[in-house]
Amino acid sequence: MHRDFWIDRWEENRLGWHKEDAHPLLVRFVDAHPLPKGSRIFVPLCGKTRDIGWLLSQGHRVVAAELSEIAIRQLFTELQTEPTVQELGSLKRFSAPGLDAYVGDVFDLTKVQIGTVDLIHDRAAMVALPDDMRARYVSHLAEITDRAPQLVISFDYDQDLIAGPPFSVPQSQIKALYGVSYRTALLFEQDIAGGLKGVAPAKEQAWLMEPR
Ligand SMILES: C[S@@+](CC[C@H](N)C(=O)[O-])C[C@H]1O[C@@H](n2cnc3c(N)ncnc32)[C@H](O)[C@@H]1O
Repeated sequence: MHRDFWIDRWEENRLGWHKEDAHPLLVRFVDAHPLPKGSRIFVPLCGKTRDIGWLLSQGHRVVAAELSEIAIRQLFTELQTEPTVQELGSLKRFSAPGLDAYVGDVFDLTKVQIGTVDLIHDRAAMVALPDDMRARYVSHLAEITDRAPQLVISFDYDQDLIAGPPFSVPQSQIKALYGVSYRTALLFEQDIAGGLKGVAPAKEQAWLMEPR
């Protein structure tokens, strides 16, 4: 997806993916890779997800990345926290206790900027990227986080029935994308009632990626 696609979605407030509560699969599987309180969790392509507030409420710290400044300003407003803002070249960092959110292209984020990451929480991030960007995305995240373990929520459906995003990333592609650096474990799989967008029969899946 070109960045203008997402910038326009935020400017037009067309946020069909946004959930009013923390994602049930995050709540259910956050401990699949056990972490002590105070762990630092990376939320790539974060939008203004309520998952961030939930992770903070569980005693974790969060680092996040998002193209749209509108999203990050709304995130902090909803968290009722005033951020400090720092310009860092092509990125801007919005910070509050326990939370650093970078505005800009996730591909511009460096290992030094992101700092320690104990777990990546990827919901509606990898599946938001078209096929030709996914391998670069997966290797970039592995590189800047020193192959931190990942919880990845994905979809498997017939891509010919509807266009993404969210895109279908079937099991074979999950294995191809992550299998070199990670052991992949399917934690959960369930048919989406009524199909994806009410059209395509689809399975929602949750994966745990543990570094090899
Ligand atoms: C489908 S939304 C999901 C948001 C969030 N993960 C959630 O669950 O609500 C995808 C988000 O990725 C952001 N995005 C897309 N490409 C990006 C990139 N290259 N760098 C950073 N953010 C990006 C978009 O602006 C959008 O907010």
